[in-house]
Order: sequence, then structure tokens, then C-alpha cells
Amino acid sequence: MNTSKTTYSEELVFRPLPQLVIDANVNPQEFAAAQAAAQADYLAYWEDAAHELEWFHKWDAVLDTTNAPHYHWFPGGQCNIVHNALDRHITTGNKNKLALIWEGEAGDSKKYTYYELYREVNRLANALRSLGISKGDRVVLYLPLIPQTMITMLACAKIGAVHCMVFSGFSAKILRQRVVETQAKVVVTADGFYRNGHLIALKTLVDEALMGGSDSVETVIVVNRATLDVHMSEARDIWYDALIRQERSEAATEVMHAHDPLFILHTSGTTGEPKGVIHGHGGYMVALHRSLNWVFDIKPTDIFWCTGDLGWITGHSYVVYGPLIAGTTTVMYEGHPLYPQADRMWDIVSRYGVTVLYTAPTVIRMLMRYGHQYPRMHDLSTLRLLASAGESISPDTWLWFYKNIGHSQCPVLDTWWQTETGSCMITPFPVSVLKPGSVHRPVPGIMVDIVDDQGQAVPTGVQGNLVITQPWPSMLLDLDRNSQKYQSTYWPLKTHWYWTGDIVSRDEDGLIWIHGRSDDILNIAGHRIGNVELENAFLAHKAVAEVAVVGIPDKIKGEVGKAFVVLRPDFAVLEDRNEIIRMLKEHLRKEIGPVAVIRVIEFVDTLPHTQSGKIARHILKDREAGIAKDPSLLAES
Ligand code: WTA
Repeated sequence: MNTSKTTYSEELVFRPLPQLVIDANVNPQEFAAAQAAAQADYLAYWEDAAHELEWFHKWDAVLDTTNAPHYHWFPGGQCNIVHNALDRHITTGNKNKLALIWEGEAGDSKKYTYYELYREVNRLANALRSLGISKGDRVVLYLPLIPQTMITMLACAKIGAVHCMVFSGFSAKILRQRVVETQAKVVVTADGFYRNGHLIALKTLVDEALMGGSDSVETVIVVNRATLDVHMSEARDIWYDALIRQERSEAATEVMHAHDPLFILHTSGTTGEPKGVIHGHGGYMVALHRSLNWVFDIKPTDIFWCTGDLGWITGHSYVVYGPLIAGTTTVMYEGHPLYPQADRMWDIVSRYGVTVLYTAPTVIRMLMRYGHQYPRMHDLSTLRLLASAGESISPDTWLWFYKNIGHSQCPVLDTWWQTETGSCMITPFPVSVLKPGSVHRPVPGIMVDIVDDQGQAVPTGVQGNLVITQPWPSMLLDLDRNSQKYQSTYWPLKTHWYWTGDIVSRDEDGLIWIHGRSDDILNIAGHRIGNVELENAFLAHKAVAEVAVVGIPDKIKGEVGKAFVVLRPDFAVLEDRNEIIRMLKEHLRKEIGPVAVIRVIEFVDTLPHTQSGKIARHILKDREAGIAKDPSLLAES
């Protein structure tokens, strides 16, 4: 890439290297033509994309808007995402190609060809069927980053069951809530896993979650990852290996309607009650296929590594479904980027020859701190494309990534999207002229606008609400058991524009910049957690009378929580405040899990309230923002 100032704008911009433009799946002219065609007829654009995949029966129409905003993509279409992610590859040259390269934190590794993965998925699919699981049944997965997690997701999808991943950093209490909400018949877990040199026990948390029984759960399947001595309940628990031992490696793929649910993934809302976002088979696979081929520019020889956990949407879309639909090789790493030292990621890139690396700003910020000597220890020359998601990547982080990891040869794509959108919505392409810090433009077929609270478009340079003005194939189908909330949260305007909850602006070149959320959601290391969820967890402790949680900047995690706590009188008199802080932090870990990072707890006598009696969080936030302007006061990680 040439670094050059252009008349394009005043900022530093980066132009793609000529060879990259020549090699790109979509060159600038094709991109412009696709944008224009999609603007003119976005349904035709997505219909073309759908034709690139295999369907058991093609659709009767591209989009049914009868029950808007419950849109129905490809009605009449019959398919199964696993047919496209796995089955169809078995009859092509992909059959013996590597589908998955997995590496454990301890350095153990396992590779699966498409054919091997296909057979493993089929065996588990048969086993699930023998347990009585069929189309529409829900299966909860409480699993770390191990191959069996991917296999279980695919096996569920293959038989039409709906998987619901619960991030392994969530507590037993959250797991129980998800089991109750989804009425899952089966929970799949592991005995334990490795993270940053520690052995984390998972099965015991499942036992805790299901203590006292569960109405729905009949079976708990346990993967032996760490050979831990776990308690197995005779009537309920079965080892994964024992379950699949006798199973055949061929299994029929369930014929699904395009709109049938594929998975539920919970994400934080503003009310403190997480929302079960439902994605389906048809539209989701179509958008992901385009995303991998166009945005990530996938070539037959690529080794694609998205570092997202399978407990989040990034893992679903860009570790499992997207790469497999595209027929590429996906990399999965179980452990921590700092284990055993800060070069682990670069070591993995060089050993497997990773070509496309998709990660998160929080990971880059963490590794940046250790300096460029770690990436320099490894040959990173196989990399050709870098990408980031989940939160804003500041220009200095972007530049460090670009220079030290990409050696100024690889574009850095800052991709904007959400659990609800299913795939990347706003992102540069590899051939785009890049401005660090901007997420660029919507991909073809995605229409967005920036509006004020009444829905009026705001002028260039002015911040407003990001809305998506036309439905798109990988949009959420609904919220689990809460259609009403789906409507009120995402479609508040009469115009039927999807409300993202993000505040953004457009610059004079038409590029989009993300400024943060308009609602009460924290983004802790790229994980969305509602302020109210954290406050409710605090309130469940007997020491807390009232509480407000706000986000404060953090050099590594981007944002962490700060809690203002009014203690109950019998605790307010206690001298040892450090002990109360320790107790409350421990309590939060139990209630939500390690993802809920509360960096500071400040005890106050009262909290500011609005006239209607609600806690005026914005006053506290503004106060903190004032403090944050002084960088010396920023919280150290
Ligand atoms: C934020 C993650 C700035 C945004 C894929 C969004 C971003 C929320 C970016 C969704 C980005 C995501 N720049 N902010 N490139 N990507 N976000 O559902 O606030 O975990 O609404 O999906 O993360 O988070 P979620």
C-alpha cells in the first residue's frame, strides 16, 4: 500500500497496492457497479447472491413483507445451511481440504478435512436423533473453543435443532436462565478447558445451574477436554465420546425452510433482560457467503483465522458458518493470546500460514503494549488481509496493526455489525481507500442512513442514529418469545427502519465513523453488557441499597464498568471498605461471570435522579468523562 495524502480529504489515507487490486475478487469497478445495481434493485442483488448456493427447492419470492417488520427472506425456499457449509463440499475438490485447524492452549492441535468434519458432524447428528432431538428442539451449548463445539453446532443445524451457545465466561446462574428461557432438552458441555495457564472447570457449573432439576433438560453431554474428575449423574449425563462411538458417519440433512431458526444467541438489552436473537438458515447463509467472498476476498489457498469466541456472533458467523460455506480453512485457538507469552498469535499465524486475520481492537491493544519485538519474532509474510470488529479501532491501534502485523502490505478492514445483523454491514473492501478509524461504507445491498431521534436525516459531519433502511438477508428473524420487544426495540419509527442503537456520523467523503451507543449498553472488550443487567446483579447483594453503573474508558478493554453504590445502613457503618469491594466484585462474578468487568466501585451517599425518579446515569457519566479528559487518570488494566 502507498501511504499518501490525497485531495480525497485532509486525513491520512491508505490506497491498496496495485497487485491487490489485480487479485481482488471484486475490483473497484466491479464494486462500484455492484453498489449501483444494489441501490437500484437490492432484491435482485440478493437474489443473485442466493443463486450462488445450493437449495433443495428455490424460493417463490425474494422477500415477503406482509408481516413487516417481521420480514421473511426467500419464502418457499428450502435449504439447510449445513448442506452448504459441509455436505456439498464432499463431492468437490474440497473433500480432502482442511476445514478446521484447531490448537489447544497447551500446544496440542487437531486438523479436520471437510470429509472428516462431515463424518464427525454426522455421527453426532445421529446420536442427537437417537436422544429424540429433532427439528425445532433447542440445545444449549456451554462449551469452550474446541472442535466439538463447532461439530455440535453443525450437528444441531443438520437435524434442524436450534443451538443456543452460552459463552463459557458466563456464570452458572446465567446458564440456568438460558436453559429455562430456551427450554433446552440437551445441554452440551466439557469437563473443563485451558485459559491463560489455568484449568477452568465447566461441568461443575452445569451441575450448579441444573441443581434442583430442570423442567426441560433430559441429557447433558460432556466432552472430555481436560480429563477432569467430574461427577456424572447416571440418569442424565453422558460422555460425548461414548455417545457417538457406535454412530454411523452418514446422516440425512433435514430439509429446512429458509426462515426456520438456526440458532439463538442472547445479547444485552437496555432493560436488563437479555434478548434471545434468532437467526435462520436461508438468508443468513446467503449474506455470509457474499461477505466471505467479497469482503474477505477468500481464495482457494486461504487460511482464515477469526479470533472470536464461539459464544458470540463473531464466532458463529466468521469461525464456523461463513468460512465453511466459503470452503476455506478456518483456524480456532482455545486459549489466551498472552499464553505462554505475548507472541502466541503471531506464532500461530506463522506456523499455519494464516492469510486473513480477523480480530478485535481489544486484542490488538493488549498485544501492542508488549511492543513490536513479539511480532518480529515470527514470519508474518503469509498475511494478506487484516480485519477488526466489535468496537471502534482508534487510528493509533489501526496503524500499529497495519505496520507491525501487516508490514504496511495488508489492508485493515474495520467492520461494523451486530449480533442482530448476522454479518458485516459497514466495512471497507480490500480495494477501498482506507481511513483509519472509519468503518467506511455499507456493503452492496445494505442501505443505511443517519437520522435524528425523529427520523430526519442529519447533515454531513453531524452525529445521529444509525438506521438500516431496507431489510437484509442475515437480519435477525425475531426475539425468542418476545416479538413485541423485537418490534419496539428495533423498529421504533413508523418508517420501518431498523434502529441500530449506534451513534455515528458521515464525513465529507461519505465515510461513516462510529461514536458509540445511544443507549445504556457497555462495550467491555467488545462484549455488550447492559448497564441495567450489571445494576440488577449488584442489587441482588444484601449490602447494596442503590446503584448506578456507567462505562469508563480503559486502555485495553476499551470500556469497563464503574459502579456508584449506596450501601444499606448496616453495611455503611462497616470500616473495611476494601472488603466490601472484594465481596461485591466476587458477587458480580458469580452473578454474571468474568465478562462483567467492574474496575472501580465508589461508595456514595446518594445518586442523582431524574424528575421521574430514575437514576440519572448520564450525570455520572458526564462527570466521569470530565475526569477521563485527563489521560493520567485513565484506569490502568
Ligand atoms: C459495536 C459484534 C465500532 C457497536 C460484531 C455495535 C462497533 C455493537 C464495531 C454490536 C466497529 C461493532 N466499530 N463499534 N467496527 N463493530 N461495534 O452484537 O456498538 O456483540 O452496536 O456484535 O458493537 O456488538 P455485538
